[in-house]
Amino acid sequence: MAEQHLSVGPEGPSFHGKTLEQHVLAAQRKIPHATGDLTGLFSQISLAAKIISSQVSKAGLANVLGYTGETNVQGEEVKKLDIFANEVLVRCVQQGGTVCVMGSEEVAEPIAIPMKYPKGKYVLQFDPLDGSGNIDINASIGTIFSIHRRITPGEGAGSLKDCLQPGREIVAAGYVIYGSSNMFVYSTGQGVHGFTLDPAIGEFFLSHENMKIPARGDTYSVNEGNYHKWAPGVREWVDWVKRSEGERKAYRLRYIGAMVADLHRTLLRGGVFAYPADAKNESGKLRLLYEASPFAFLFEQAGGVAVDGSTQEGGRILDIEPTKLHQRTPLFIGSPDDVADVLRFVAP
Ligand code: AHG
Ligand code: MN
Ligand code: MN
Repeated sequence: MAEQHLSVGPEGPSFHGKTLEQHVLAAQRKIPHATGDLTGLFSQISLAAKIISSQVSKAGLANVLGYTGETNVQGEEVKKLDIFANEVLVRCVQQGGTVCVMGSEEVAEPIAIPMKYPKGKYVLQFDPLDGSGNIDINASIGTIFSIHRRITPGEGAGSLKDCLQPGREIVAAGYVIYGSSNMFVYSTGQGVHGFTLDPAIGEFFLSHENMKIPARGDTYSVNEGNYHKWAPGVREWVDWVKRSEGERKAYRLRYIGAMVADLHRTLLRGGVFAYPADAKNESGKLRLLYEASPFAFLFEQAGGVAVDGSTQEGGRILDIEPTKLHQRTPLFIGSPDDVADVLRFVAP
């Protein structure tokens, strides 16, 4: 037995797969006239993700748990780690010369790039820390982002107009999950790829290439505490989905309350996640630009579907024209067959 232990140990860097940066660079090389700016922006985001993940993993020690006592622009209590994550992302990206403006869940107005830094051709929008209600209980949380090309002409500052672009114009989107292991999942429109952080080396290595969502799953994910506030169609869908009928088994309910965690599971295992409108939140709770759209882009890339349930066809999330930075939208997202089932009940 002792001999076995002697041979255990890392085999060196060749044991690991491609790094995130190498992967993005290879994807960008396929695009004619690519300048490398997108690769640069990914490096800045992944640096921020590593800093946030390190802080998240020692949150209990570093005295960053708990509320700050302030509320964010959504009127929600802000926790210290939300602010920290927001600042880390802004600082890592603003000096890189890759973006002209940013948008964040935690900041009321578009975030301008300081005068002293060059402005780039991209627009970055993010939810710096999603699922902040989970921080204090050591459950999974995450970061969500999307990248658009600037539409303001020239090389100067960007504006609100650059932020208010529909999801179908997304150039790249992704999320980071801070969980039992930390993963960075992204797409530039050439499939969805997942990378796992090796904490000893401090790099994200390719672990999930070309992720595809199953056509159908066996779980539904929704805050059923809102049941009595939902429209009748949503209630009928939930009543139906948890009932066995002939061959069809009742679905399992899984709900963590952090969309990064709930959607990471849904992407890997299939099924459906929903945050419908309700009597209190007429447009639902989730934000279009930095929660629903990035995930809609990723799920479509993985063979899934993301709709708001507003039309017979579903109401594709990526086709919504945003009018406000912090706009909310109802969301039904997941395996194509499961979302089709939802629409039989909720579509008008
Ligand atoms: P955030 O922590 O960024 O405000 O987001 C929380 C969101 C989302 O992650 C999650 O799916 C949803 O809120 C949960 O809401 P309920 O507590 O209303 O179910
Ligand atoms: Mn969020
Ligand atoms: Mn958040």
